[in-house]
Amino acid sequence: MERLKIAVLASGSGSNLQAIIDEIKSGFLPVELALVLSDKPQAYALQRAKAAGVPTKVLLPADFASREDYDAELVRLLKASGAEAVALAGYMRLVTPVFLQAFPHRVLNIHPALLPSFPGLHGQRQAFEYGVKVAGCTVHFVDEGMDSGPIILQAPVPVLEDDDADSLAARILEQEHIIYPLALRLLAEGKLHIEGRRVRIAE
Ligand code: GRF
Repeated sequence: MERLKIAVLASGSGSNLQAIIDEIKSGFLPVELALVLSDKPQAYALQRAKAAGVPTKVLLPADFASREDYDAELVRLLKASGAEAVALAGYMRLVTPVFLQAFPHRVLNIHPALLPSFPGLHGQRQAFEYGVKVAGCTVHFVDEGMDSGPIILQAPVPVLEDDDADSLAARILEQEHIIYPLALRLLAEGKLHIEGRRVRIAE
């Protein structure tokens, strides 16, 4: 069977990208990684992609007059790579309708909090400072809002008495590395069905 072709967009360390690469290699995740693209030339994610033999591109925001112009070129590169779906993994830019309309219901994101609580930057730290007893992470479809699209999977992470924001974030990241490949596997298997805000997962 043809494997779903995905692209990953990343701005930083790329540990979620690494989890995706590892689960493709293990045979758990039946997708082909067509492209890893970053807005940051120094992103370590690019090294991880190269080490795995995955094509990479860098697209510098400074070279474009607007976010829409940036996303138009992004879409061109993604389509040229053959990507049918896109996983945002620590991608630190807001996406525009230009991008989303090119991949309807085919853009996913991982967020380090139990949405809809603590959207935006540093979700783990926001949750820790708020004093929650259960933190966690969320994989969701991307819409035009900030971390607001339909939720695919979530994993809870209890906050321990001796946690600080960093130790909590590290345990949340471990769960991210489990649920992101799983969500992408469900997508690749055609098991995700969006009904309004709800994502139904077929057996
Ligand atoms: C993760 O915490 C993810 O939830 C957030 O950005 C971070 C990316 O980490 N969106 P990495 O680059 O995958 O290591």
